[in-house]
Amino acid sequence: MLTLERVEVAYGSVRAVHGASISVPEGEMVALIGPNGAGKSSLLNAVVGLHAPSGGAIRWRGTDVTGWSPQRMLRAGVALVPEHRRILTGLTTEENLLVAGILTGGRTRRRLAAELMERFEVLGRKRSTPAGLLSGGEAQQLAIARALMSRPDVLLMDEPALGLAPVLRNQVFDLLGELAAAGTTLLVVEQDAHRLLAMADTAHIMRSGDIVASGTGGELSAREDLFEAFLGNGT
Ligand SMILES: Nc1ncnc2c1ncn2[C@@H]1O[C@H](COP(=O)(O)OP(=O)(O)OP(=O)(O)O)[C@@H](O)[C@H]1O
Ligand SMILES: [Mg+2]
Repeated sequence: MLTLERVEVAYGSVRAVHGASISVPEGEMVALIGPNGAGKSSLLNAVVGLHAPSGGAIRWRGTDVTGWSPQRMLRAGVALVPEHRRILTGLTTEENLLVAGILTGGRTRRRLAAELMERFEVLGRKRSTPAGLLSGGEAQQLAIARALMSRPDVLLMDEPALGLAPVLRNQVFDLLGELAAAGTTLLVVEQDAHRLLAMADTAHIMRSGDIVASGTGGELSAREDLFEAFLGNGT
């Protein structure tokens, strides 16, 4: 349902993504892995309109959405949990959710925020806490809940477990599993490649702006050669 066709991303003369083709079928989890600087964030940001692609096309449910603004993409059902969370630290947990639901009508927005604060129980307990005082794991849950405020049809997640302690990383992976089980369509970037591949339906390895391997999560997991060549040990 979401298709990236030879998408290119450039920052001036720096070509970050050379032509990436990925398809994200409805209800599936697609993993995108690769070393630092591979172009993963550039690609995700281009899909949601934070940075216009310099080439290629993005199609969403049959419509060419290349170059659409982030607001328009959000309205169309495509949401991003950005790298480094980017929550509004001066606002409370609840206010962060309400601001994120700005595209939704007032009453629905409050109901959605209430639902999410029940589902993410720590967010409910800390609804009046300034987001800047949340722990890393709590802030990450808020970043994910915030993206869910738009009731997206597809959720793009850029390293949701980045910088978290092991127990909190586990929570994020549990949450990914729950979202997948609930049928959410997901395109996920994570450093913990083996763990993500174990959950993903399909996966792509990206390096220096190119997709260098694609397959099912299981297939890529078994390719030790790829791990050594592209991802280094320990991933
Ligand atoms: N705003 C920018 N201006 C110029 N160059 C950029 C910008 N953002 C990223 N780049 C460059 O584009 C390339 C890809 O970066 P990107 O952040 O997309 O990689 P990444 O795969 O997400 O890496 P990481 O795993 O470290 O998050 C890098 O060479 C980076 O230096
Ligand atoms: Mg990145």
